[in-house]
Amino acid sequence: MIGRLNHVAIATKDVAKASAIYRDTLGAKVSEPVPLPEHGVVTVFVELPNTKIELLEPLGDSSPIAKFLEKNPTGGMHHVCYEVDDIYAARDRLKQLGSTVIGTGEPRIGAHGKPVLFLHPKDFAGTLVELEQA
Ligand code: CO
Repeated sequence: MIGRLNHVAIATKDVAKASAIYRDTLGAKVSEPVPLPEHGVVTVFVELPNTKIELLEPLGDSSPIAKFLEKNPTGGMHHVCYEVDDIYAARDRLKQLGSTVIGTGEPRIGAHGKPVLFLHPKDFAGTLVELEQA
């Protein structure tokens, strides 16, 4: 069902500092910060030859990554995103198999302008999983 790894997301309190690590220390191609108020994050995209890294910093009072950063003050891996061909078919299959889809269960438009869903970490080896319709 799942296809390519679209991105790995890393939450950080300081996206400028994390950008500098990826750009200057690791020598990667790094975008300018992109504020996404509707998602409660500032995003920086790191482009790698085979996938992307998303650096996320909280934006606003009700950021979805605020709690994660409380528990992980130095930052850390927040989620992985896998591509699927049909997000509704994927959702229905996962629900049928007993997986917990976070929120209303309706896909939302994600950071790349495509429909996404999040799956609860308890069902996926402790990792928050994002599905994106490719
Ligand atoms: Co993501």
